[in-house]
Amino acid sequence: MARWLLVLLSVLFLLSGSSAHPHTRLATHSRPKLTVRSQTDKASSSPGNTTITDSDPASLVNVFIGTTNGGHVFPGATLPHGMVKVGLDTDSPGNQAGYDANPIFNAIGFSQLHDSGTGGDISLSNFKLWPLPECDSFASCNTSLFFRKTLRKVLPDGSPDDAGSPGYFATNLSTGVQVELTASRRTALHRYTFPPSSREPRIVVDITNDGMNSATEPVVNINTTTGRVTGGARFASSFGPGRYNVYTCVDFKGDGYDFEAPTEYGVWLGNTPVQNSTQVIQLYSGFLSEIGALLTFPPSPNPVHTTILARVGVSFISSDQACANAESEIPNFDFDETVTTARETWNELLSRIQVDTRGVDKEITELFYSSLYRTHISPADYTGENPNWSSTEPYYDSFYCNWDTYRTLYPLMSLHDPEVFARIVRGMINIQQHEGWLPECRGATLQQWIQGGSNGDPILGEFFVKFHEHASALNVSANDLYTALLADAEEQPPNWNLQGRQTTVWKQYNFIPSDVYDSGGTATKQVSRTLEYSFGDFSISQVAKILNNTDDVAKYQARAGNFINVWNEKVTLPGNSSIKGMMQPRFADGQWNYTDPRHCSVNDLLDSTCYLDVTNHDGFYESSPMVYSQYIPQDTAKLILLQGGNESFINRLNLIFDQNYFDVTDEPSQQIPFMYHYANRPGLSTQRSRMIIAESYNTSVSGLPGNDDSGAMASFAVFYLLGMYPLPATRQFLLASPYFPKVTFHNPLFNTTTTIIANNFTGNPQDGIGGTVFVKSVTVDGQSWHSNCYLDWDVFVKGSTVELELTSDINTTCGEGSDALPPSLSTGGYSGTI
Ligand SMILES: *[C@@H]1O[C@H](CO)[C@@H](O)[C@H](O)[C@H]1NC(C)=O
Ligand SMILES: *[C@@H]1O[C@H](CO)[C@@H](O)[C@H](O)[C@H]1NC(C)=O
Ligand SMILES: *[C@@H]1O[C@H](CO)[C@@H](O)[C@H](O)[C@H]1NC(C)=O
Ligand SMILES: *[C@@H]1O[C@H](CO)[C@@H](O)[C@H](O)[C@H]1NC(C)=O
Ligand SMILES: *[C@@H]1O[C@H](CO)[C@@H](O)[C@H](O)[C@H]1NC(C)=O
Ligand SMILES: *[C@@H]1O[C@H](CO)[C@@H](O)[C@H](O)[C@H]1NC(C)=O
Ligand SMILES: *[C@@H]1O[C@H](CO)[C@@H](O)[C@H](O)[C@H]1NC(C)=O
Ligand SMILES: *[C@@H]1O[C@H](CO)[C@@H](O)[C@H](O)[C@H]1NC(C)=O
Ligand SMILES: *[C@@H]1O[C@H](CO)[C@@H](O)[C@H](O)[C@H]1NC(C)=O
Ligand SMILES: *[C@@H]1O[C@H](CO)[C@@H](O)[C@H](O)[C@H]1NC(C)=O
Ligand SMILES: *[C@@H]1O[C@H](CO)[C@@H](O)[C@H](O)[C@H]1NC(C)=O
Ligand SMILES: *[C@@H]1O[C@H](CO)[C@@H](O)[C@H](O)[C@H]1NC(C)=O
Repeated sequence: MARWLLVLLSVLFLLSGSSAHPHTRLATHSRPKLTVRSQTDKASSSPGNTTITDSDPASLVNVFIGTTNGGHVFPGATLPHGMVKVGLDTDSPGNQAGYDANPIFNAIGFSQLHDSGTGGDISLSNFKLWPLPECDSFASCNTSLFFRKTLRKVLPDGSPDDAGSPGYFATNLSTGVQVELTASRRTALHRYTFPPSSREPRIVVDITNDGMNSATEPVVNINTTTGRVTGGARFASSFGPGRYNVYTCVDFKGDGYDFEAPTEYGVWLGNTPVQNSTQVIQLYSGFLSEIGALLTFPPSPNPVHTTILARVGVSFISSDQACANAESEIPNFDFDETVTTARETWNELLSRIQVDTRGVDKEITELFYSSLYRTHISPADYTGENPNWSSTEPYYDSFYCNWDTYRTLYPLMSLHDPEVFARIVRGMINIQQHEGWLPECRGATLQQWIQGGSNGDPILGEFFVKFHEHASALNVSANDLYTALLADAEEQPPNWNLQGRQTTVWKQYNFIPSDVYDSGGTATKQVSRTLEYSFGDFSISQVAKILNNTDDVAKYQARAGNFINVWNEKVTLPGNSSIKGMMQPRFADGQWNYTDPRHCSVNDLLDSTCYLDVTNHDGFYESSPMVYSQYIPQDTAKLILLQGGNESFINRLNLIFDQNYFDVTDEPSQQIPFMYHYANRPGLSTQRSRMIIAESYNTSVSGLPGNDDSGAMASFAVFYLLGMYPLPATRQFLLASPYFPKVTFHNPLFNTTTTIIANNFTGNPQDGIGGTVFVKSVTVDGQSWHSNCYLDWDVFVKGSTVELELTSDINTTCGEGSDALPPSLSTGGYSGTI
């Protein structure tokens, strides 16, 4: 373990079982226990508050946060950004990631691929395995989803008997079988421990039941000599029109004993196993049929129980490649070693951000590391598994969707995981080179629905602004990156519902009019797309600036200002004429249409939703005009002018919270709690952001306010707990105070460690209100810093020490100088080197 690891005292607090500041809101909620077989707590021997250099942050991760009530979090086993995400599938209506922590839902299988936190239909969940401890006979076994389903065991506290930690998952089924799962990048390893009564242990391999039961063209083969099951099928996209192929290769081994071959085998159709059949071709079936293999294994000589290991390789290319992946990644079926490798990989990654937990409630530390963990589930590393073209570049998939993640997930990656960030960017550029445009909501190798603009643009912008000096060392071509951005910005794709922006109209009108019906996409979301295109072009201007392309800087900065074209200064909030000026739909001739500012908020009298519906003519996606009227991260100073100055801007922000226009479940709201910074009232941002955490996040299984959205909500929580909010594709981070007296970030590319120290830290107020949490002054490496409101990227490049002096005075300001407020385009920000 590297020497740079600094103070980590949290483990001690967890062991002592108490904390100096009990935090009732986050106090113990019923949740699955978090034990890991054969894992020891290595840090437990570290004394007092001395430096801990061998910490185990994985032990602070609760993988079950947000696994019921709509969080859709995946709690199963995966490596960071692993392709295989093996987990328990349930028959919950909220089983987008398979699992549901509510034990009323049946277990239906253990499948190999998942996303985490997504909405849409149920993605992936392919190739379920299922243990059958005892059937009367082979032919009488229940193989279909409906007949095989069973409940999990339930613990005395009412939670299911499930356990999990980074790289490991386990459950006990009511049939008496214990199931344990672990993973390498493209291979899952399952361990099935059957009850003593089970003398004919059997395992079902389900080829066709993905999450949407969408398989066509299934193939199943059983090698009767080895028991190897190979197969695959074609499945439907969960958030788009396409279909994808995926293949598997399953091998079995006795745990602690050897067997040559299964004692019985057969292919099954629906609930009917057909013994001695070895290929699905013998059982022709059309769409929606359930098909797989069923194998019976010799029992272990161990009189107590039989344990069978199942190694499941996966490939998007072929079943041969699935076998090769499995053989190379987990050659010896060594379960404990696979778990250990996964945990070490997670620990190396998670320990790059260290927190000092003196005076901090242990629930906060758990929330922090659990959230950090979930920012490394997606996108997934499918390198070598791209079915559409061959390339030596990395290939990442499960961008579900960039619209969700560009705001906070990638800026967090900039702080501690730049090498993986660079690989993701290379993969994105490679996709643009073969498909014409950067990916947006790609899943299962397919293009899926675009939600905003080309939200890959701010991701590439974020990378290049932060790492341009290292781009060639990271094998990112600056030329190719810029070419990819210009393709998004300038070339209209044939299908802009799936591929990118409606650029022809954007360039012609400088906004997206409500009444231009262009071929290749649906005339919806015109106002929110205008705002996203503006920010996309801002991020391109930031790259152009680094490349010294002054013409393009001027061009794209001008386009970044196009948000003004959908600002209707006359529209007011019904019932409150002081809230004046709104983003509104506009026609090509410059006349305005009208969408009630309350539309799509909780105050909408019509209860409308703003989802991807072709009949939506309101102009907005997933958030109200009230929220989108705050969404101009590149030029908040202009927004303040449009809204009548600091005082009325602050009043409007307050109203947004007081009247519940703020929507913590949707990304366009993510920056709003921090926007008081721009009106020189950073204390209000600090308090508001802390209130959001207190109200909407906790460590229970229902601890997320909505879908985690591939880690977008997790990265939002991480930044809030760190006392920062990122401005993607810029060099600035808005600054508040962290929930910890000290935080360190190790950046492995720069080999530097940045430290933020909160002097006068006295703990975190439970409800987020008040406290000694407001930033009074800031020093960087001992020198007074010009702003209390933002940090510059330089701090994280050099590995500076930032010291904050905290106060209980909420009336602190950003400072006196002209550069104390965070930058905005219209006030000269983002010119020069800023
Ligand atoms: C440990 O705590 C003591 C007392 O609070 C303090 O004097 C000392 O500097 C601390 N040591 C470290 C390594 O933080
Ligand atoms: C199959 O499922 C049915 C319905 O749940 C049940 O009655 C039957 O006992 C099951 N058979 C076996 C062999 O488990
Ligand atoms: C399942 O049962 C086994 C055997 O009783 C036990 O060791 C384990 O802790 C239980 N829970 C899980 C999640 O494995
Ligand atoms: C089954 O596997 C064995 C061992 O790899 C191989 O020799 C044999 O050809 C396979 N059988 C079939 C029918 O493919
Ligand atoms: C990529 O491959 C999948 C098969 O998995 C196919 O369905 C899809 O159409 C291909 N996409 C393109 C753009 O060729
Ligand atoms: C399957 O094959 C085995 C071995 O040849 C035989 O004993 C058994 O009766 C067969 N089962 C069926 C249902 O044909
Ligand atoms: C960059 O590419 C070179 C040549 O292919 C390779 O040796 C090197 O490891 C790559 N570096 C990174 C960071 O991927
Ligand atoms: C841009 O100009 C600056 C200042 O002249 C120079 O240091 C830098 O190398 C130039 N960058 C590129 C990509 O040409
Ligand atoms: C104008 O807005 C109304 C209300 O949202 C909508 O029903 C109508 O379709 C819009 N007109 C056009 C041309 O988009
Ligand atoms: C990283 O920096 C540490 C000291 O801060 C040094 O000991 C180590 O050798 C450096 N590692 C690399 C790879 O340069
Ligand atoms: C913060 O602590 C320092 C000593 O570390 C003290 O001098 C200062 O007055 C305190 N500031 C506030 C605002 O409490
Ligand atoms: C902050 O300002 C408000 C009004 O501007 C005032 O009522 C309050 O007392 C001030 N707080 C402190 C701690 O000075």
